[in-house]
Amino acid sequence: MSVFAYVNGVLRAEDVSVESLAEAYGTPLYVYSRRAMRDRYAALTAALKAVDPLIAYSVKANANRSVLSEFFALGSGADIVSGGELFRALRAGADPAKIVFAGVGKTREEIVAAIEKDILFFTVESEPETERISACASAAGKTARIAFRVNPDVDPQTHRYITTGKKENKFGLDRARVAQACRQAVRLPHVSVAGLHMHIGSQILSPEPFAEALDCVVGLCEEIRGICPDLRWLDIGGGIGIPYRPEEKPFDLAAYAGLLVPRLKRSGLSVVLEPGRFLVGPAGILVCRVQYVKENAFRKFVVADAGMNDLIRPSLYEAFQSVVPVRETEGRMFGDLVGPICESGDFLARDRELPEVREGDLLAVRDAGAYGFSMASNYNSRPRAAEIMVDGDRAFPIRTRETLEDLVRGEC
Ligand code: LLP
Repeated sequence: MSVFAYVNGVLRAEDVSVESLAEAYGTPLYVYSRRAMRDRYAALTAALKAVDPLIAYSVKANANRSVLSEFFALGSGADIVSGGELFRALRAGADPAKIVFAGVGKTREEIVAAIEKDILFFTVESEPETERISACASAAGKTARIAFRVNPDVDPQTHRYITTGKKENKFGLDRARVAQACRQAVRLPHVSVAGLHMHIGSQILSPEPFAEALDCVVGLCEEIRGICPDLRWLDIGGGIGIPYRPEEKPFDLAAYAGLLVPRLKRSGLSVVLEPGRFLVGPAGILVCRVQYVKENAFRKFVVADAGMNDLIRPSLYEAFQSVVPVRETEGRMFGDLVGPICESGDFLARDRELPEVREGDLLAVRDAGAYGFSMASNYNSRPRAAEIMVDGDRAFPIRTRETLEDLVRGEC
């Protein structure tokens, strides 16, 4: 049963009434289930136990310290993409030996900070980056481990903004360049080529594109093994999707493992996985309160107190996220669920059947645990929402609602 289910007509997060959370903490409100996070982590580890991967939770999906420390306590490492994520991960208790650092634009400061902590490896996205890492490591008197990110030119059939492994994308090195990049790297005294990396995109619902990309990367492993004596890790990135639409099926973990495990074993390397959305997406909802219901000649608008600054996925990717009433109702209406932001692109659901609601009713946007709060902004000078973690029948605030003073902090 979902951790967000109705009991006596009221939506619960595990054993806590979402209505009572909205009363106590106000709206908009992110509510997460600790059990869901743990269960999903367990399901993923179990599916891949044949290769015993290092799970490096992708911090960008949800960077709240309590979420991070939950995964670190389960043995997870961290996939980071900035100095800020390094800071957050370390604050939350990450083991630096389980941190991998990706991203096309690492600055010297970020690289130095990560070298100081002796992270597991940098995912290197370009030849100039290898040189920069080597120079930073040399200045620190250390050797930095790197893993080249391969762009396998595979179509993962997801939204074009979150496709990362096609040849027109900015990420990684073309397969044909990797061996040469390895030769360049092994000549540098302060880097060691410790692995290969791939990440072909996000919200991928079928396992086949992963297998196709992996074939490319495993083939490359054979090719560079002779060049790189320190090769040890094969990082297969994140990207496992979740069903947002009612007609979508959950990602088939067994099929994914069935396709990937033999290929991973063939590589003989230790496996790293960087899941984000899969672990936290379904573990969170965004609760909002209806402010107005308005109608024009063309459509009905439900105006909520949450908008694109709280949850940008619908606006940015025209992403579908289910909207459910907090108090069950049979009534349905057709229209848009919009926020208060001054943009026509500010919607949480568009052209949709919605629960029939009135001013004051509560709605929950499902599957908001990943890329929800982590992409929130203060646009229109709106303080960011509070976040609550539910554990059984208890609820803990894990981030307080921002105040008006927070909005101007730092301005001078
Ligand atoms: N590893 C790397 C190198 C990544 O760039 C990403 C996500 C992940 C792992 C985690 O991917 P996941 O398992 O969560 O799919 N904001 C978009 C998603 C952007 C993903 C960016 N990279 C969305 O809301 O759909």
